[in-house]
Amino acid sequence: MSDKKILITSALPYIHGIPHLGNIITSILPADVYYRYQRLRGRDTLYICGSDSHGTMHEIEAQKRGMETEDLVYESHKRVKSLLEQFNFDFSYYGITNSEENRETTEHIFKKIDENGYIDEREIDVTYCQNCEKYLADRWIEGECPECGGLARGDQCDDCGTLLDPKDIVDSYCIHCGKGDIDFRKSKHLFFRLQDFEDWLKDWVPGVAGNKITEKESFSWLDGGLRERCITRDASWGFSVPKEGYEDKVFYVWFDAPIGYIGATRTWAKENNEDWKKWWKNNDVKYVQFMGKDNVPFHTVLFPSVLKGTGENWHLADKIMAGAFLTAGDIKFSKSRGKGLNLESALKIRESDYWRFVLMSLYPRDSDIRFSWDIFQDKINNELTDSFGNYIHRTLKFLKDNFDSEIPDIDAGEDGFWEDVIRSVEAIERYIEEFRFKKAMNEVVRLSSKGNSYFQEKEPWKNIKDDEEGCKETMLICLNVVKSLAIVSEPFMPETAEKIWDFLNEEGKIHEEDWERAKKIDLRGKTIKDPEPLFEKVEKENIPKFTKEGGEKNMISFDEFKKLDIRIGEIKKAEDIEGSKNLFKLTVDVGEETKQSVAGFKGHYIKEELEGRKVPVLVNLEPSELMGVKSECMILAAVAGNKEPVVLEPERDLEAGTGIA
Ligand code: 2FM
Ligand code: ZN
Repeated sequence: MSDKKILITSALPYIHGIPHLGNIITSILPADVYYRYQRLRGRDTLYICGSDSHGTMHEIEAQKRGMETEDLVYESHKRVKSLLEQFNFDFSYYGITNSEENRETTEHIFKKIDENGYIDEREIDVTYCQNCEKYLADRWIEGECPECGGLARGDQCDDCGTLLDPKDIVDSYCIHCGKGDIDFRKSKHLFFRLQDFEDWLKDWVPGVAGNKITEKESFSWLDGGLRERCITRDASWGFSVPKEGYEDKVFYVWFDAPIGYIGATRTWAKENNEDWKKWWKNNDVKYVQFMGKDNVPFHTVLFPSVLKGTGENWHLADKIMAGAFLTAGDIKFSKSRGKGLNLESALKIRESDYWRFVLMSLYPRDSDIRFSWDIFQDKINNELTDSFGNYIHRTLKFLKDNFDSEIPDIDAGEDGFWEDVIRSVEAIERYIEEFRFKKAMNEVVRLSSKGNSYFQEKEPWKNIKDDEEGCKETMLICLNVVKSLAIVSEPFMPETAEKIWDFLNEEGKIHEEDWERAKKIDLRGKTIKDPEPLFEKVEKENIPKFTKEGGEKNMISFDEFKKLDIRIGEIKKAEDIEGSKNLFKLTVDVGEETKQSVAGFKGHYIKEELEGRKVPVLVNLEPSELMGVKSECMILAAVAGNKEPVVLEPERDLEAGTGIA
């Protein structure tokens, strides 16, 4: 193994919504395990990640909420960052693509590839919503397919699959506002000549692909022949393009996102008085990237070509490792708050080490893997608790009960067993180096089973009575296996490892330890602390309800339904909201109180039509703000074609406040 510095990056998560387990299993988590492992091996290692913060989604969402895009983005960034911290991801730096350092780097790189002749200018057709006053991304325009009458989205019909020119969609409308005020315009854009790198990429990719999936996904672009790729967008959120005539456009999110790895390293360097070039412009570095398979061609084709196109000495990735998908069995993964299993809801169920363990035992290196509650329960109960946790607890407990917590200070009669321990530790090393995280995780459990069998065979509870020396030897070995387990589990379950370290009364933090100690019998004569069980089993009844309910069919239980307080309300007043073309502020009498609601009825109803109406209202909705106006309840309405709201009315007159069940 060379002594190169190791630079690790994991795909920068989008931050609209909260990442879910499927988002981290192939990127942030394995990268963290790899980083922690390399650190224990004493290597100079840097782990960079951050928020992918550009893209038009944020603009639309901010507009809906009446917020500044930047405020929304930084709020989401903060929330996601704090959640990732709770998962104990130990980034050297977690940045954001919307940073000054990234802007500078993106501009610099763009200017270089432009100077070197890799940028073409073209005029293309773009769609524009006059109501939202926004250009629409590909699939943000919908309508009727001119061929089959089905649902056409952007450039394709979802029903018959025909490729379409968005102009030909019948009764097209913007998916954000539902209006049909669509304009087709011409706009000049910049294209990166990806095709100029095709031959070089075909040679380069097989050497850096960490597994078959990475190679296959890369060749899904390469085999079809590369074409120039548009790297600019008509939008206002993002880095504006530093070229005459393009200043009102921004870079495409996938252009500046991977450059964000460099940008974040520069922010880290600035804050820590370090030299970022030591990591990005240095041959003495091994650079490893982690991601999900959907991100592959951007990292194996687009990003390296862009860096190469600068003609500068950027350090390209040495290994690119992409995993397949974690698919949901009886639960739903969802990026939104409160729905399905995202990182926030996962932490409410169990602490991060449980998740880190289960996810790494499932790491989908070569094909998709299904997650279900049965698997979750089985892994935690049988492997984590019954094998790993039990071995450690029974060993420490036996020492406490029979040796006053003191580890025997004797020379070990090393029998073949310790060689077997070393074999396990070395297998874990090999598996992590080869990105076989599932095997590595299994080997950690296997090492604990080996310990359990050894304990069982040696029967210390018997020989404590008739062979104290033999019993001491057994305990010395068993305690040293506990120490080995603490070290080898640190990359996977850092909190647990730290706890074991504390039980062993070892000094310092375990992540600063030397991995080699996992192979040595060097724990002698120490008095350990009182142990406690490390894990708690999962009982069926503790498996959270929402996940079953939010299952594949999106069912909700009666209990959940009962939580909805729906009543008849009377709309007392309808008012305009400054600057909004489709929202009204409504004052609604819901019985005992009057609430305010912001509703998208404008353009479909006039104010006078609404005032005095009795309508169903969801009363106990968490308050939110839209266009700066507070909304405390929701008027329930039917949504007809083109997203037209249609107000519902009770069949006979009812008092405001009448319940609906
Ligand atoms: O899939 C995603 O979440 C993307 N935001 C990954 C970007 S990786 C890098 F290029 F920034
Ligand atoms: Zn619109």
